[in-house]
Amino acid sequence: MPPDTSHESLDSSPTRLRVGLFGAGLVGQAGHAPSLWEERERFDFVAVADASPSVRHSVAARYGVPHACATLEDALSLGLDAIVIAVPDPAHRGAVLTALDAGVHVFCEKPLALSLAECDEILAARGDLVVQCGYMKLYDPALQRMVERLTEGPVELVYLSVEVNDPDQAPFVDHLGLVVGRDVPQGLIDEMKDRGRRAVREALGAEPDAAQVRAFEAYLGSLVHDVSLAHHLLRALDVTAPLPTVDAAYFDGGRGVSLSWTLPGDGRAHLEHLNLPGVADYRERVTAYCRDRILELTFPSPYLRHHPTRLVERHSDGTVAGLETIDHRVSYEEAFRNELRAFHAAITTGVPVRASVEAARDDLAALLDGFRLAVSRHRRVA
Ligand SMILES: NC(=O)c1ccc[n+]([C@@H]2O[C@H](COP(=O)([O-])OP(=O)(O)OC[C@H]3O[C@@H](n4cnc5c(N)ncnc54)[C@H](O)[C@@H]3O)[C@@H](O)[C@H]2O)c1
Repeated sequence: MPPDTSHESLDSSPTRLRVGLFGAGLVGQAGHAPSLWEERERFDFVAVADASPSVRHSVAARYGVPHACATLEDALSLGLDAIVIAVPDPAHRGAVLTALDAGVHVFCEKPLALSLAECDEILAARGDLVVQCGYMKLYDPALQRMVERLTEGPVELVYLSVEVNDPDQAPFVDHLGLVVGRDVPQGLIDEMKDRGRRAVREALGAEPDAAQVRAFEAYLGSLVHDVSLAHHLLRALDVTAPLPTVDAAYFDGGRGVSLSWTLPGDGRAHLEHLNLPGVADYRERVTAYCRDRILELTFPSPYLRHHPTRLVERHSDGTVAGLETIDHRVSYEEAFRNELRAFHAAITTGVPVRASVEAARDDLAALLDGFRLAVSRHRRVA
């Protein structure tokens, strides 16, 4: 197996980067703050910035971070090398541009932005700085193994399926004792809501109803992970994204969303994301049905640390006795931590960014296409 060059060996003495965390809510506390602390050989975690005083002070205290800042600008004024952005989606564009303008490398949670125009602004401002999108699943070792198995020998992909049952985060983070900020200024909450709604209106060219707003959030906030995984696998097979969208739907009041593409050679891909808060189980299944093998990845909830993603491979010579099933147990590495190592490596050694702005833009293009098609089909049926 080729060595994974996406992050450095723990044995080397990496350059320590001064980093801040902007937005220390759910993913900030469940993913990034503990990972930055664990990666203290690579990152000097110097600032937590959050609009909520209780959140910024308690997270800074928990991880021994010297500065709790009210704004991104306050954190940047400390002289940072890099910033991890985990504020709500409508604040991403402004935060990324502000950080780039200050000459700081950027890691920004998904979705990188809410429109293609916002992605283009980020691309234009990036210069020589690193911008990485928060697609931690792309740094999961089991996904890496799946890519290797797909690219070993000529593989003919017939159908790619991604199916997710997602009950939201509560069952998987309740035990963590996360601090919820009930002291965010109301003006900021209203501003985020307004910006979010404006983005839906711009995408649709019309005033959205409540189900359409929910569907937009489900496409850009949830299905984005699935699209990025599918695009990553397809790129490994030299299939260029985004692909023609042949079907899309939103259902269950906008909580469920789906997307279908045609694949070269008359193949098909189908992605489906369900929100089922009544069932405390999370599974994301990514299955590649190829002419000579079936590869299936099953991701557990991303908030469960060191729960390995399962990769099962089935191949045969077509006979009953020839069927072989391999259960790959690849690693107990943590994807949230791996993506930060990769971010560090991109900054310090120039390793290309896997979760790049270009990739995030392709994902967004597919998601916006799907959203618009879903809305037009829903109108026709209604
Ligand atoms: N990679 C993943 O699996 C994953 C999981 C969850 C969320 N996310 C993404 O991370 C981002 C944050 O999501 P979350 O669920 O942690 O949200 P959250 O609401 O739990 O946390 C957001 C934090 O930002 C603060 N905040 C809100 N608006 C702000 C502003 N304008 N300026 C400064 N601080 C502000 C809030 O006080 C809060 O602490 C979103 O973009 C989301 O899509 C990614």
